[in-house]
Parts: sequence; structure tokens; C-alpha cells
Amino acid sequence: MSSFVLEYVRQNQPRFLDELKAFLRIPSISTLPEHNADCRSAAEMLASELSRIGMQNVRLIETQGHPMVYADWLHQEGRPTALFYGHYDVQPPDPLDEWLTPPFEPTERNGNIYARGAVDDKGQVWAQIKALESHLASTGSLPINVRVLLEGEEEVGGEGIESYVSSKPAQLKADFALISDTELFAPGLPTLCVGLRGMIYTEISVRGARTDLHSGMYGGAAPNPFIALAQIIARLKDEQGHILIPGFYDDMIPPTPEELAAWKSLPFDEEHYRATEVGSPKLVGEPGYSVLERTWARPTLDVHGMPGGFIGAGAKTVIPAKATAKVSMRLVPGMTPEKSFHQFESFVKQIAPAGVEVDVQLIHAGNPCILPPDNPYIRAATRALRRVWGRDTVFIRSGGSIPIVGDFANYLGLPSVMMGFGLPDDNLHAPNEKFNLKNFELGIESLICFLEEAAG
Ligand code: BES
Ligand code: MN
Ligand code: MN
Repeated sequence: MSSFVLEYVRQNQPRFLDELKAFLRIPSISTLPEHNADCRSAAEMLASELSRIGMQNVRLIETQGHPMVYADWLHQEGRPTALFYGHYDVQPPDPLDEWLTPPFEPTERNGNIYARGAVDDKGQVWAQIKALESHLASTGSLPINVRVLLEGEEEVGGEGIESYVSSKPAQLKADFALISDTELFAPGLPTLCVGLRGMIYTEISVRGARTDLHSGMYGGAAPNPFIALAQIIARLKDEQGHILIPGFYDDMIPPTPEELAAWKSLPFDEEHYRATEVGSPKLVGEPGYSVLERTWARPTLDVHGMPGGFIGAGAKTVIPAKATAKVSMRLVPGMTPEKSFHQFESFVKQIAPAGVEVDVQLIHAGNPCILPPDNPYIRAATRALRRVWGRDTVFIRSGGSIPIVGDFANYLGLPSVMMGFGLPDDNLHAPNEKFNLKNFELGIESLICFLEEAAG
């Protein structure tokens, strides 16, 4: 990295962090309608910062939901064009009482910044913008052409951006996408993510009686929708964690022997993972597959919540008329959201007990993706990471989903470089989410070097 740029980053780091804190104070929770205005202010803050640092054609792109933010800088004719992607929306912060400091009051503690969205994904979006700023401010230009597309609906399935990308706008013409929304495999270990699971997020709604009923007067004769849901859910998976939906595993493409061998050589300590990251008495899942295989390359089925009935303090003797279960499945390469949802819906209806009506809705869906790791941009990324972290890059998959990555490949033919700087214990989607401050700084430096290396 040129010494001017490096000096700029080091001198301005305290300001970068103050700005990130201001960004983190905006509660841009995409799934809660009462935060729509906050989502818009987060988008506006990004747009004004992109203008301030010298990006051009900055604008909000409206969607049915929260706006996207676009910017570009296209003055390196003959050099490649990168499409920077990240998301400014965050997950709801609950349970609030488990946060040591409030989720939207960013706080520094033992080398980390704690806040909802610190690492997923506001801190990493800010790192991308600060890398662009550092080049523009210290050299007056960028090493390659850059377009920026930030969205505010990633955490709710990203419908708006998908319909925009599927229209293949000329504005997104690029050679590759750069996504900073993933993590390092271990502290200090430069990592590129080359595969993500897809997902279908569903709701099973069960209706029994006409209205809520006194459980003494009607218990024994009226169906209970929670019992029905429990019976349905219990038949979706066996005791070993194998999913029982007929045909569910048919199309999956297993990882190659080379990938499996590479995963075996990653520094992974299962007992440490159980004790410190998961914190349960035992890990669960399909026998015969390692933890990394189970979380990266096998489909899953999970229940997230069961709204309905009485959930207040104390006791209420009621048979609820209806109940819902939020159930998602993670999909691996080869599987498609359409077919998997169809198989799930038919099976749920087939196993539903008598006495209740069952409805299955698809809330959102995203494709799995797997990226071939041998292209010039991935190679440029590993050179950049070596310069900053002094080590060889490891290639991993992640069990999480970023729906737009598959869409970039399918609609725009873009390879993605998933270069992210989170850590495995950053508490994504959980209380006390954090971003390591050193990773914020080295992340900015890595992105700066990547722009230089991608110039060839
Ligand atoms: N950044 C995450 C996905 C992720 C997490 C990738 C960890 C790699 C490592 C993303 O914001 C996310 O949480 N996605 C959702 C997508 C869903 C709502 C469609 C997910 O995975 O649950
Ligand atoms: Mn994210
Ligand atoms: Mn997320």
C-alpha cells in the first residue's frame, strides 16, 4: 500500500470509529415497520458520506421496502470494475436485558465495539467506505473502477435488491462483486468465504377452534393447535437430526474430497467451539459428518419461534384457537428454494393431525451459492490479505446466507469475492454483538490493498 494511503488510515482511524458509532446509533431494524424511518436515515447517512468522500452519481434507489444506496467512480478506463455490496439493516436487538450496554449506544470494551450491527454489517460497510475514502483523499483517485450498491433488506430476504438485480440494469455492469459481510475463520487468519447456504423461511399456521376456549370446559374435546404444531415439528426430523421430508436431500451436491480435506486442515477445536461459542452440554446433528460439514454443507431445519396463546407472566387456562411456528431450512448447493418449499409444504399437510387446519406460507427465500476459487479477483484478494495479515488465506464456506451473492452470479454473471472481517464469537443476531477494533482497522487496510491488487 502506498505510504500516503497507509498514513491517512492510521491518522484518521479515531474519526473513522466516531463516524461508525454515529452510524450504529441509528436503529435500522428492517423487519420492524416502526423503524422504517430509521432505515431511511441510515440510507441517507450512507449517501451523504459517499458524496462527501468523492464518489459520484450517488442516489437512493427506491424499492417496495427500504431504499438501496448507489454510487460510482468510473475513471480508470481499461481497468476492472468492482461492485461493492453490503447492508445497512440490522436484526432486532431483543432480548434487551441480556445486553451489557444498550444495543444502539455503541460502546468500546476490551478492544471491541459493541452494538447491534457492529459487525453485521454496518462496521464492514463502513470499512468499505473508509477504504474508498483513504484512496480518494490521499491520491485523488481509485486504482480501479468502483460501483457501490448497499441495501436495507438483507436481514429480511432482500426482495427489493433481487428484483432490481434481475432487471440487469446497465448501472451494475462490473467484473466482480466485493462483499464484506462474512468472517475470519479464526483471529488473525485471513479468510475468504467461497460458499454460502441458501434458505427458505416459512410459517406454519394452525387453526383449531372457532375462538379461544376455557381449557377446563373444553379440554379433552377441543383440538390444541400447539400440540398439533409440536406433533408436526417432531416428525420433520429424526432424533439424529436427519430431515425426514421426502426427497429433501435428493439434489444436493456434496463437497468435493479436496474441499473436505482442506476443511480437515483448518484450525478447528470442536470442544472449544462447544464450550465457548455454543455453550450447550453437547453438540447435536447428523452422525458421520464433522461440525464444519454439518454447518457448511448439509441442509438444516430449525424452529425460531411459536407465536400464539398466552405468553404473559403467570397462568391463563386457555386453549388457543390458533398458533404459528416460524420454521426455516438452510439449503446447500444443488437444492432450490422452489422445490424444497414444495416438498416441505406437501409433507407438513400430509402429517398434520386431525382436527386442525394447517396453512404453510413462504416468508422469504434465497439460493445457496458456491464460488470457484480460481479467478484473478480471488488471487488479487489473497495477495492483498498476505500483505496486511502476513499469512496465507484460508478458504471456507459459511452456514449463513447472503441471498444476493447467488443473484449476482445468476443474473449478472458476476463472481463474488467475499472478504469479511468478523470473528466467530462476534454474537451476530444475538445480544452483545461486537466488532473487533483491530479487525475494523486491518479490514480497511485489506480493502485498500485489494483495490490496488485488483488493478493488476
Ligand atoms: N452476514 C450474514 C450472513 C453470514 C453470517 C455470512 C456469518 C457469513 C458468516 C447475513 O446478514 C445474514 O444474517 N443473513 C441471513 C439471511 C436471511 C435472513 C435471508 C441469515 O443467514 O440468516
Ligand atoms: Mn450480514
Ligand atoms: Mn445478518
